Amino acid sequence: MFNKETIGKFHSTPTPFYYYDMGLLRETLEACSAEAGKYGYFLHYALKANSNPQILKLISKSGFGADCVSGNEIRAAISHGFSPGHIMFSGVGKSDDEIRLALHSKIQSLNVESRQEMEVISDLAGEMGVTADISLRIIPNVDAHTHRYITTGLEENKFGILPWEFEKVLDKLKSRQNLRLKGLHFHIGSQITDLNVFKSLCHRVNEINAWFISNQVFPEIINVGGGLGIDYGDPDTFRIPDFSSYFRIFSNFIELQGNQSLHFEPGRALVGQCGSLITKVLFVKKGISTRFAIVDAGMNDLIRPALYQSYHKIENLTSAEQPEKYDVVGPICESSDCFGKAISLPKTSRMDLLVIRSVGAYGQTMSSQYNLRDLAKAVYSD
Ligand code: LLP
Repeated sequence: MFNKETIGKFHSTPTPFYYYDMGLLRETLEACSAEAGKYGYFLHYALKANSNPQILKLISKSGFGADCVSGNEIRAAISHGFSPGHIMFSGVGKSDDEIRLALHSKIQSLNVESRQEMEVISDLAGEMGVTADISLRIIPNVDAHTHRYITTGLEENKFGILPWEFEKVLDKLKSRQNLRLKGLHFHIGSQITDLNVFKSLCHRVNEINAWFISNQVFPEIINVGGGLGIDYGDPDTFRIPDFSSYFRIFSNFIELQGNQSLHFEPGRALVGQCGSLITKVLFVKKGISTRFAIVDAGMNDLIRPALYQSYHKIENLTSAEQPEKYDVVGPICESSDCFGKAISLPKTSRMDLLVIRSVGAYGQTMSSQYNLRDLAKAVYSD
């Protein structure tokens, strides 16, 4: 995956650092746009996956809208070239200041997650003398068959409005002059690899859409969120997600009415595979039954393995010796600070460079300064 010249440059860069293959990102964006373009679908990049300026600039230049979940994400999207008219704002707990910012910025839609939020948005819009364009985030009760921490479309989850609240929602809409219903929003979870899940989502969306239309409410925007997974096991063979099959499912099963438009909020599928975490081996230590490769990246740099027990492929970039098994662990004082157990690597020694793959999404954005460690920097292939 990395040529000799690139690995040579890695040696002179302070570790740990995130490395982004911008060529792969470009190819991925093109593939996604081309497949969505076949059906006239709209794409809004979910900034939470990766909000590095260079990445945002490339994605906005490629014609994507944005999906934001905080006031600062709205600011970052606008300052890196996303047009406010193509920004969606989701989130179960928007603050008053964030709502005011969204209204002031004239974004495409605030995706509201409760009746209580509708009231607050309507009051704030009234104070500002504007009408708020909103979409209703609805819980479709579709199981995403993914890790329970990143499942969001079930009745027990905190997100969105439940179907038995719809009548009260319509009453609220009628009584609040400062709200304009633009659309319906759904997002059922992340790292979804079973495409049948999206087929089930389409069926529920069709039913819910039909209910609103039969109640004389016409949502122009149908937003089905993000969630398409990537292949963490084999990032070289499956560099780019199967956007063709993904969008084909929606084209086959979603029933749009009149001039309704279909919107997506991909995050991981766009940026996941282009990012790698490069880290140096500090020590190799023999335990009772295992050998530890202790590296200079920690769970503060990449929390996914500790938080979701997620798998990331790990490779040694500098050794070609016979393979041995290692637990690859970080320096943080927690046993969960482990990137992989019993990983087969060429015989590994102090100062070897390891790469942790497929970390472009929810890697850097979820990093912290735990233990007062410095934040890992980003390095870009161009
Ligand atoms: N739209 C909404 C409303 C979302 O909440 C999310 C992600 C997305 C779109 C983008 O989903 P994606 O296409 O990336 O699956 N930190 C976790 C993932 C959390 C996802 C949260 N919501 C992880 O590292 O796996």
